[in-house]
Amino acid sequence: MFNQLNKAVENNELREDIYAIIDDIIAYTRKHFATEEQLMAESHYPEIEAHKDKHKKLIEEALHLKGKLDYIGEQMFTDWLNHWPFARVLAHIQYADQQVEDHISRVAYRMQ
Ligand SMILES: [Fe+2]
Repeated sequence: MFNQLNKAVENNELREDIYAIIDDIIAYTRKHFATEEQLMAESHYPEIEAHKDKHKKLIEEALHLKGKLDYIGEQMFTDWLNHWPFARVLAHIQYADQQVEDHISRVAYRMQ
């Protein structure tokens, strides 16, 4: 999905199409975060509140920037997307979420 967004921006596709991809990414991210929050609660992850706060901020930031896209010209639109916070979402999924997965694996191992 992130690659799809990059390609769409590179190919100067219609804004409507780019917005549709952005909406898909936000929906996917929300679902991923909700599932993870449930797993954190079930496994008594100690950093749950701080982690949930990060999720909330990432979604707020994505929605805020998406709102701004309506008001900028074409060149800036492309520049803007290149600095899009989805890179941060991706980084969060790759690094912060790894800690949660490690925790869940340890809990599962202890329960065996
Ligand atoms: Fe997370």
